[in-house]
Amino acid sequence: MTDFQDIHGRKAGTWAVNDEQAHGREVRSMFARISGVYDFMNHFLSLNRDKAWRKNVAARLDSDVWEILDLCAGTGDLALTCRGAGKGRAWIAADFCPEMLEGTRGKEGAGALFLSAADAMQLPFGDRCVDAVTVGFGVRNFADVRRGLAEIARVLRPGGQFMVLEFYRDDRAASGEARGVPGLIRFGLNTVIPLIGKIVGRDSAAYSYLPSSMGEFLTPSEFADLLREFGFAEVIIERQTFGIAHIVGGRLQE
Ligand SMILES: C[S@@+](CC[C@H](N)C(=O)[O-])C[C@H]1O[C@@H](n2cnc3c(N)ncnc32)[C@H](O)[C@@H]1O
Repeated sequence: MTDFQDIHGRKAGTWAVNDEQAHGREVRSMFARISGVYDFMNHFLSLNRDKAWRKNVAARLDSDVWEILDLCAGTGDLALTCRGAGKGRAWIAADFCPEMLEGTRGKEGAGALFLSAADAMQLPFGDRCVDAVTVGFGVRNFADVRRGLAEIARVLRPGGQFMVLEFYRDDRAASGEARGVPGLIRFGLNTVIPLIGKIVGRDSAAYSYLPSSMGEFLTPSEFADLLREFGFAEVIIERQTFGIAHIVGGRLQE
């Protein structure tokens, strides 16, 4: 019998989980369970900072970008933020959890989004078909981070941009520097968020997954190195609000 840790534990150095299919099923069903409260919890737990972080992603995109694929789009906020910022002319919001995509309904501008039920591990799109790929808080959930990056590099046009807003592993834990997430905020992430998730979201497991998956993920600089390995240049790392989140991104080399 496997337990949660067996499924989600990452095989050292590969950034792939032990049981990829079970992991995908668990992640999908976890987001289906919290889809109704996702937006509220997101804004509430981040004190609305998540909105500013998404705007910073949009600001990083070229002004003449045409097709944007927002992967792990969830309830569509990142795609809609790009649209609101005047970035892009066509927006694909792709996610493997239809219940999350349902959450785009009724939002301003949502009618302009093309919704796609798609797994980032095997994208149903042709090669070199989009100008930019954005991912907000999604890469950390990939069963195999390298496979996801290979798919993203495949669907991006050469010269296209890739921007990832994510809760990465704390830099300080990896480097011994004093630039990591401050202790009080770390306490909030590890203790307060699961507790509030239990009370308001009625699902402490889903909100415990946030700190545990952060702890197992890459640091911003490790993720930046991985982007270079997959052919991205002009790699940037931008700290958001005391390093709680970071934007890491780059441009696929021609
Ligand atoms: C934390 S939510 C982020 C939603 C949105 N991007 C935002 O900024 O709020 C993560 C989303 O990633 C999706 N997801 C996780 N793994 C995925 C995969 N392999 N393929 C597609 N979507 C995935 C989940 O279903 C969920 O909707």
